[in-house]
Amino acid sequence: MATLVSPEASPTPASRRAFPAPTGTPWGRPRTRRHEPGFHELTGQYRIDLRTQPPDLFRDVSTTNWGALTALDVGTPYRTEKWSRARREYEATHDAPLPIIDGWRLFNTSFHRFFLTDVPAAQQQAKAAFGAALARMDVHEAQEALADLAHLAIWNKIMRVEDAVWDPRGKRALFQGLDVRKPRILFLGAADGYEAMQLAAMYPGGEIVLVDYDAFCATDRFGAFPTEYPFLGVDPTTGHPRAWYRDEMPIHFEVADIRDLTYGAEFDVVVSIGLLEHFPDEHKPLCIDMHRRFVKPGGYVVMTTPRNQFRTRAFYNLMADWMNHGYRELMTVEQMGRYCFTNGLDILRAGVIKAHNGLIMRVR
Ligand SMILES: C[S@@+](CC[C@H](N)C(=O)[O-])C[C@H]1O[C@@H](n2cnc3c(N)ncnc32)[C@H](O)[C@@H]1O
Repeated sequence: MATLVSPEASPTPASRRAFPAPTGTPWGRPRTRRHEPGFHELTGQYRIDLRTQPPDLFRDVSTTNWGALTALDVGTPYRTEKWSRARREYEATHDAPLPIIDGWRLFNTSFHRFFLTDVPAAQQQAKAAFGAALARMDVHEAQEALADLAHLAIWNKIMRVEDAVWDPRGKRALFQGLDVRKPRILFLGAADGYEAMQLAAMYPGGEIVLVDYDAFCATDRFGAFPTEYPFLGVDPTTGHPRAWYRDEMPIHFEVADIRDLTYGAEFDVVVSIGLLEHFPDEHKPLCIDMHRRFVKPGGYVVMTTPRNQFRTRAFYNLMADWMNHGYRELMTVEQMGRYCFTNGLDILRAGVIKAHNGLIMRVR
């Protein structure tokens, strides 16, 4: 039995100090209001964006001739191999690879810490810590505070300024036009369940099954997802746009390994966000098959993976201690499309959004 690495081993002690556990944040707070379509607000943690204008970025590449692409045409994905300190320490101590599931536990606890952070408040705190360290001539503490400021600046840019992590307008552009009514949606490797909730807002009246083998996702990443975060969707009685909230959606969270699921081909939509790129080539057919086997005839497989672009490579390099606990590739939409096409999926819609490539597919 593998030893579980304590998630506490992941962020540096200095970072824990700089990103305090929140009190009174939207995470876990009861919902107090409804938002109107068009609403837009920047909070300390995230951006609320119910604007109906086109997304900042949606490059539609649906007309690609996927069958004509060769391995030579598309090349190979980039691997993020600057490993976290926690992974390196585990491997030095145990003389064995970090078990994959433990890597995910480290990833989820680290990532969630950032989501919880009130960024402007944490930046103030880190600046104060830097000033105090300088006054004491404490070079080490000053360096730690500067590193915290750098990491907070990166997170601020991608999560709050660009909204590139959740990217609701990009995701809505990708998810539009599905021919489903009251769909049953299965989310493989669900983490916080965000994209299933966005889909359920756009295609309401069905149900969501979230599956992740890291129990922390059930209790915290999804379990404490802000009840007051609105997802722009549709009111089925009027056809008009309206906001939906997680407490208005029937959601079941299953803590399980997706390889052990016993469902049949019973879901209208099977979705994964950032899963395929964690499987080396020899295991990608298995990963894709896990989507195919649970989708109804005529249903949709929806997948996204992080893009191979300079800013994404920089993000994973600079945030390695928090993010890089396991195997990950960054790919182009052509690489992703080729993997899916050659593994029996027809690509109906393909696009590039801020941080991810996205495909809407059907089993061939
Ligand atoms: C990279 S995350 C997905 C990105 C996600 N949207 C986020 O915000 O973090 C992949 C998720 O898949 C889960 N996962 C990976 N392999 C799994 C498996 N075999 N069974 C169940 N869950 C798995 C991990 O625990 C992790 O939460």
